[in-house]
Amino acid sequence: MADNLPSEATGDWWRSAAIYEVYVRSFADGDGDGTGDLAGVRSRLPYLAELGVDALWFTPWYLSPLADGGYDVADYRVIDPAFGTLGEAEKLIAEARELGIRTIVDIVPNHVSDQHAWFRAALAAGPGSPERELFHFRPGRGENGELAPNDWPSQFAGSTWTRVEDGEWYLHLFAPEQPDLNWAHPVVRREHEDVLRFWFERGVAGVRIDSAALLTKADGLPDFVEGRDPHPYIDQDEIHDVYRSWRAVADEYGGAFVGEVWLPDSERFARYLRPDELHTAFNFNFLSCPWDATRLRQAVEETLAEHAPVGAPATWVLCNHDVTRTVTRYGREDTGFDFAAKTFGTPTDLELGTRRARAAALLSLALPGSVYLYQGEELGLPEVEIPLDRIQDPMHFRSGGRDPGRDGCRVPLPWTAEVPAAEPWLPQPEDWAAYAADIQEVDPSSMLSLYRTALDLRRHEAGFTGSALSWLPVASGVLAFARSEGLICVVNLAAEPAELPAHSLTLLTSGPLDVDGRLPQDTAAWLRA
Ligand code: NOJ
Repeated sequence: MADNLPSEATGDWWRSAAIYEVYVRSFADGDGDGTGDLAGVRSRLPYLAELGVDALWFTPWYLSPLADGGYDVADYRVIDPAFGTLGEAEKLIAEARELGIRTIVDIVPNHVSDQHAWFRAALAAGPGSPERELFHFRPGRGENGELAPNDWPSQFAGSTWTRVEDGEWYLHLFAPEQPDLNWAHPVVRREHEDVLRFWFERGVAGVRIDSAALLTKADGLPDFVEGRDPHPYIDQDEIHDVYRSWRAVADEYGGAFVGEVWLPDSERFARYLRPDELHTAFNFNFLSCPWDATRLRQAVEETLAEHAPVGAPATWVLCNHDVTRTVTRYGREDTGFDFAAKTFGTPTDLELGTRRARAAALLSLALPGSVYLYQGEELGLPEVEIPLDRIQDPMHFRSGGRDPGRDGCRVPLPWTAEVPAAEPWLPQPEDWAAYAADIQEVDPSSMLSLYRTALDLRRHEAGFTGSALSWLPVASGVLAFARSEGLICVVNLAAEPAELPAHSLTLLTSGPLDVDGRLPQDTAAWLRA
């Protein structure tokens, strides 16, 4: 079985893997009901192998009422019937592995669904019960307990507290359908270690940890005091104890973690990556960075500098199921990404955005570390403006309708140019036929062809391995760096065309060179000296 795996991938494969995020509900629809499922994924494994990815990260596929797209888990050991069965998941994991592709599951430890057995039992058992101790239930403030127990704002806007019939309040950092677990409770810790084992025993090679810096809360759940850092529900020191015991579980199986750790402070971020904690964490500084040479170089340098002391590899991410799709973002006037800035109707130039996204793909795939691709990124799909009456994301509703939410990057993939037999759960724009995988597959200039070629080179060129990166002197607005074995990546963000290094062989470019063989604006090249 290991024969199909790239040689360097047999040990610390997670140090350099290309990982493809599968948002199951929108990837491929196997049973023709308009919703993606495991049968659909299994039928598209050859596509993923051909694309050249090393691992698949599946967003939550567990039993869920889908109040937050599956990040509200009712049972971590059961596959949602809309997606398939546990038996199918096991087959999928094994079939992917036969093709040299590892599987990463998504564990959501901060909260459960309000339909999870524990929460239902807690509601039924009432105040003061041991069942309620697994969550954060509190009496309210004010004369009659009518005020929330503290002032914490929800990640989805509004309060983090909801009052139940008997008068107590419970904490939820996200939607009310996602009650937070009490991580000071030993039963909560034990249960999650069991869940990790459950999935490692089914052959998964890695686990993505949702909201990884939020689990433990400051004692007494105090109000937020301006200037005090960290916030009482973010990055509490006790959390590292949780991850040290998780690491011991992962080490029993040779499994790897990737944490969703959004923290601006690089020293605090790196603590999660100490050798006895998480193997990797998402790099959101790079993901949020505007299309600007100075800022990008700074993001790369800071990333490498913060990872080096703990010996962890960096990760590079351009988009995921929570953020505006890359071609749309890079075609806007403001090319940075900020959660608070998501608005309806922001104009974008898709041609420009696509040119930049192609260059950004070569940039991120050339950097040392692992790299994440989000389904549809390889097709160059744009963000979709979903009609108001079809929006499903709680983020939209919780913002009072101001924020369009995240559905625009979650529209089911166009596999063929034909209109899908069943209406997809989110509407596909009519012009999406042009993005269809079967059309792009036979077009050497398509985004899909670019990704295939780049992933193939990244896997087979020796220069992409290791952690070396040295910057080369270039004109302002240009990024150029060398990896090992004479491998060079040049990205031109300036208006002036850039000269490519002399005596080098061009391996791949994200767009055509000009008549003088120079690299035009918003174009990247890979070369061998
Ligand atoms: C991060 C996930 O990526 C996002 O989709 C989800 O809404 C929140 N965590 C809450 O689980």
